[in-house]
Amino acid sequence: MTTSLFGKDILDLQLLSDDEIRLIMDTTARYEKVMQNGGRLMNLYGKTLATLFYEPSTRTRLSFETAMLKMGGSVISVADAKTSSSAKKGETVYDTGKMIESYSDVAVIRHPVTGSAKELADGSDKPVINAGDGAGQHPTQALLDLYTILKEKGKIEGLTLCLAGDLKNGRTVHSGAALFARMGAKFIFTAPEALAMPDEITESLRKKGVEIEIIPDLMQAVKKADVLYMTRIQQERFEDPAEYERLKGSYEVTLDTVKAAKKGLTIMHPLPRVTEIKTEVDSYEGAAYFRQAANGVPVRMALLALVCGCE
Ligand code: CP
Repeated sequence: MTTSLFGKDILDLQLLSDDEIRLIMDTTARYEKVMQNGGRLMNLYGKTLATLFYEPSTRTRLSFETAMLKMGGSVISVADAKTSSSAKKGETVYDTGKMIESYSDVAVIRHPVTGSAKELADGSDKPVINAGDGAGQHPTQALLDLYTILKEKGKIEGLTLCLAGDLKNGRTVHSGAALFARMGAKFIFTAPEALAMPDEITESLRKKGVEIEIIPDLMQAVKKADVLYMTRIQQERFEDPAEYERLKGSYEVTLDTVKAAKKGLTIMHPLPRVTEIKTEVDSYEGAAYFRQAANGVPVRMALLALVCGCE
């Protein structure tokens, strides 16, 4: 029996219902258990995933491809879609969607321009998954982040999440804030003024009654937070290199940050990190960022299976 996610594009989590989010979490947990018990899943045998990455990626691309292969499916991929696909000759993302629907059963796209995943989906009758569109959304990251919080903390409702770093350009925090708020989280936003969370996101959350504190000082923020969600200052989104140089070292999580924090702080990061979390923090038991990245595989297995109707 297929679910309401069968054939659906995953572009923005606002377009999914709470029941659909729960279904993704439950399916992920089920698949993870099968794998932990040494079982194999072949749900996607005979299906093909196309990965189109117009921007660099390690985790998202490899975890999607791993997820497909682990479920018996196949992967076709453009190594660097910006320079080695016909985009280089001027082909639109919409026309690429028209083509990709005849080669694959589901497509994953990362693109520097906000709205490009929707453009691909407009061209394709097969499901399209947004793997990050500019400074817009990164919905599958938010899903794996939610799964990580549920695994690490046992719940999300009532927890205080400190979102820190580049809240202006970080698409992971844009997708994450909306999703975590729906699940009952409270927030501290910690960013330099120039990289604050966009007003429309903050105002929209506040209108829904979500508690948000703005605390630019990281040491003060971690005293009140259950989860610190650190992000990288997004160099590639800066027009002025001098402005990036001014802001790049705004925050650094060290063992002193952990000592100052509320007991049991969980530290997350979508990765890659640059200098914002020192490697000395990696051995802290609450440092969850590599476990978080690993959760990308079962979450993406669940998503691929659900949108292909093979769960
Ligand atoms: N978190 C994340 O999107 O990582 P990549 O850029 O390596 O895919």
